[in-house]
Parts: sequence; C-alpha cells; structure tokens
Amino acid sequence: MIKISPSVLACDFSRLGEEVSRVEKAGADLLHLDVMDGMFVPNISFGPDVIKSVRKQSGLIFDVHLMIENPGRYISKFVQAGADIITIHYESCENHEAVLQMIKSAGVKTSVSIKPATPAFVLEPLLPYLDMVLVMTVEPGFGGQKFMLETMENVRLLRNMIKTGNYEIDIEVDGGINTETAAIAAAAGANVLVAGSSVFHAEDAKKAISDIRAAAEANYLV
Ligand code: DX5
Ligand code: ZN
Repeated sequence: MIKISPSVLACDFSRLGEEVSRVEKAGADLLHLDVMDGMFVPNISFGPDVIKSVRKQSGLIFDVHLMIENPGRYISKFVQAGADIITIHYESCENHEAVLQMIKSAGVKTSVSIKPATPAFVLEPLLPYLDMVLVMTVEPGFGGQKFMLETMENVRLLRNMIKTGNYEIDIEVDGGINTETAAIAAAAGANVLVAGSSVFHAEDAKKAISDIRAAAEANYLV
C-alpha cells in the first residue's frame, strides 16, 4: 500500500498548526518531521518541543527523520514528543542495534536511513530490527532538491533483500518526490513517499497528494 508523508520542512512555519491540518485534511497518511542539528547536515530545523506542540493537534502518524549526530542521546525526547516512527541515519552512529532497541522498547517503530552514497547492503544485518528503511533520494539537509535517479539502485536492492528474507519492512524515499519521480520510486519498490515542496507549495494539496499516490500506485510492482 502506498503512503504519502508530507514534509513540514516546506511549510509556512509561521502557521505550522494550520499547515499540518491542511495536509491532514488533504489526505496525508503520515507527517514527515525533519530534525537537523547543523552537524550531521549543514542546516538546523527544529527539535522535540516543536513536535510535541504539533502532536496536540494532529492525529497523523508522526514520521520523525533524525538528521543528527549520535541520535541515541535524544531518542527518549522524541518518544515523549509523540513520534510514531523514528528514523536514524546509518552514517550518524556506530551502535545502530542499541539505538534501534531503545526505539523499539519505547513502542515506537524503527527505521534507518542511508544517504545516496551509502550502499544498501550495509543495512542487511539490521533488517531484523527494522519496520522501515529510508532511502535518501537527495543529499539530506535541504528541501526542494532534484531527485537522484542513481539512488533507485538502493531501493531495488533493499526490495530484493526484504523479499528474500521474508521481512515486513516499508521502503520510504525522501527528496525531490513529485508525480513523475513517485512513479519511478514505486516501480523500484518504494511504498512510502515523502513529499515536501510538491505538496506544501502546490495550489491544491489534496490534488497533489492524490496525483502522487495515483502515479505511485499505477507503478508499484510489489
Ligand atoms: C531533506 C529532507 C526532506 C525534504 C524533502 O534533507 O529529509 O524530507 O524536506 O523535501 P522535498 O520534497 O522538497 O525534496
Ligand atoms: Zn526527511
């Protein structure tokens, strides 16, 4: 099943609450929350307190993407803030299993992300601990970038690894997703699509979400 996760990084932050309800009413399945520390990526966004206040007024599944160094230090904060899924970056720490265990034991879904240059096979030993994998389709740090076609190799490889191991793991893609690239990513095996600019900057968010969903569903081969 295809799920759409609008990224608030592209919203009007002066009206954060209204922007979140706008995409919720427009048919979003998840809400993608990009946390950046200015160390792991060259940008700073927001932290757990902001997520906590949005949590009070939204029923969406909170898909928290941690682009921070040593994410283990902050897992409990994001759990308390109301995260439903927490993604850590493969490149941000060494103790992946321990951090995933912290997330899981808090009753939150686990996910690991790889940057475009990280080969998907590094995730193989972690698959038993994962509910989702996030394949970056741009360099993390900024919204509004161009989708990198070469990252589809990682999606295809993960889809095969998941199938072979008989795991139930979602594959999320993040960066430069629109109707055209959603079709490409779904054909490679992705079923959770993050969309920032293409949803929040669209005139009609409902149409944007349903067009992206339709393009992906028509091409999803799993
Ligand atoms: C980039 C973020 C993305 C970003 C996507 O580091 O992880 O979630 O907001 O934005 P668009 O869809 O505009 O590329
Ligand atoms: Zn993201």
